[in-house]
Amino acid sequence: MSTQRTLLIIKPDAVGKHAIGEILSCLEGEGFIIRALRMEQLAMERAQEFYEVHKERPFYGELVEFMTSGPAVPTVLEREDAVTHLRAFIGETDSTKAAPGTIRAEFGTDVQCNAVHASDSPETAEREISFFFPS
Ligand code: RTP
Ligand code: MG
Repeated sequence: MSTQRTLLIIKPDAVGKHAIGEILSCLEGEGFIIRALRMEQLAMERAQEFYEVHKERPFYGELVEFMTSGPAVPTVLEREDAVTHLRAFIGETDSTKAAPGTIRAEFGTDVQCNAVHASDSPETAEREISFFFPS
């Protein structure tokens, strides 16, 4: 498997807890190379578009509210098998059920405030990287 890129977002809860540095450090320790990174407080329309796939879900409104509640840090990460590896390394969606040692177990709080987002397939990764880093 050759190197691959994926999108991570450090979500507003983790930014608010001043955990940006620790999270990036864990990821670098796991062999991910940071290729791009910036800070953005998502406008309502941007958050709605980013999570459009969930628009019929009961938690969509709350999710958009949460993702616009403060600055987030979209980050492009590169590694061998990056998409699958990052999903495993961040842990389950619900932070209270995430395996010990995962990012969500360490830095998340619950099913919504779960510290980070990660792309769920190579196709999603391409779309999500373009969403935050159009060039
Ligand atoms: P993400 O897209 O952020 O990487 O998270 P994920 O794939 O693990 O989970 P997904 O099902 O795509 O859900 C997206 C985000 O919505 C919030 N959520 N809230 N209240 C709820 O039951 C609930 N379920 C999901 C979380 O912030 C989740 O990461
Ligand atoms: Mg998802």
